[in-house]
Amino acid sequence: MVLLHSLEELHAWQRDNAWASRQTGFVPTMGALHEGHASLIRLAAERCELVVVSVLVNPTQFNEKDDFESYPRTLDRDAVFASNAGAHAVFAPSAEELYGGVPSAPSVDWGPLTHAYEGAHRPGHFDGVVAVVDLLFATVRPSLSVFGEKDLQQVAVVKRLARERHPNLEIVVGGLVRDDHGLALSSRNARLDQEGLVTARRLSRTLRDMQDACAKGGDVAEALIAGREALDTTPGITLEYLDVVDTQSFEPSRGAQDQGAHVVVAAHVQGVRLIDNAPLRT
Ligand code: PAF
Repeated sequence: MVLLHSLEELHAWQRDNAWASRQTGFVPTMGALHEGHASLIRLAAERCELVVVSVLVNPTQFNEKDDFESYPRTLDRDAVFASNAGAHAVFAPSAEELYGGVPSAPSVDWGPLTHAYEGAHRPGHFDGVVAVVDLLFATVRPSLSVFGEKDLQQVAVVKRLARERHPNLEIVVGGLVRDDHGLALSSRNARLDQEGLVTARRLSRTLRDMQDACAKGGDVAEALIAGREALDTTPGITLEYLDVVDTQSFEPSRGAQDQGAHVVVAAHVQGVRLIDNAPLRT
């Protein structure tokens, strides 16, 4: 496993390993790797002869300076972790080198896809995601790239980006990984103490309750009211949104039987922003 710090090092390594003529996988990350990332890297390694994992805390997708500055940075540990999961190289450029100057992101308007839910609560977030992922795809030039289902709206945004600008690239979606208590794995969980972890479990429990209610024929709108009430009345949780959406368009969906209807949630626990999602039909 090699750690590549610059575009020049990446391209030299790719030349030496005949990257262009092989089946190649790419897993973009912001580091602080956990089991959720490992499952994405393993998925890429099952399908590809060579796998590159990028580690870059992308400044343009953070709408709060504190959130960007406090994001965990653990590159040496991440390199070992990625290697154990099956990566052949970790690519960790500086933002300035990747962007070719001061990082900036033009605004992207793909309707609710970029402006609702995550887009509404984190203004400019998807501008930054599209900018960095577009640059990474163009720089790494993989055959396929793997993204985690936990960031469900990001998956829909990246699929549209790939369709429009990287039509030969296959986007593979890795399933959401949970801990033994149902909490969706996230690099941000490391910032919760024991009490915060217990409170955060309420998010996935609420999604499960909604799934169960709808699976038994319950009304989606009623399940939503009950879900919002459960989260609004849980001490320690500040709810941003809980809704049922269509996973392609990110428009609200009110039919449990609708193909692709998912419950999505974002909430703050101990000042940490957490997201989760679950399909309504299981
Ligand atoms: O999901 C993430 O970690 C980031 O949004 C990504 C895709 C690596 C872009 O910075």
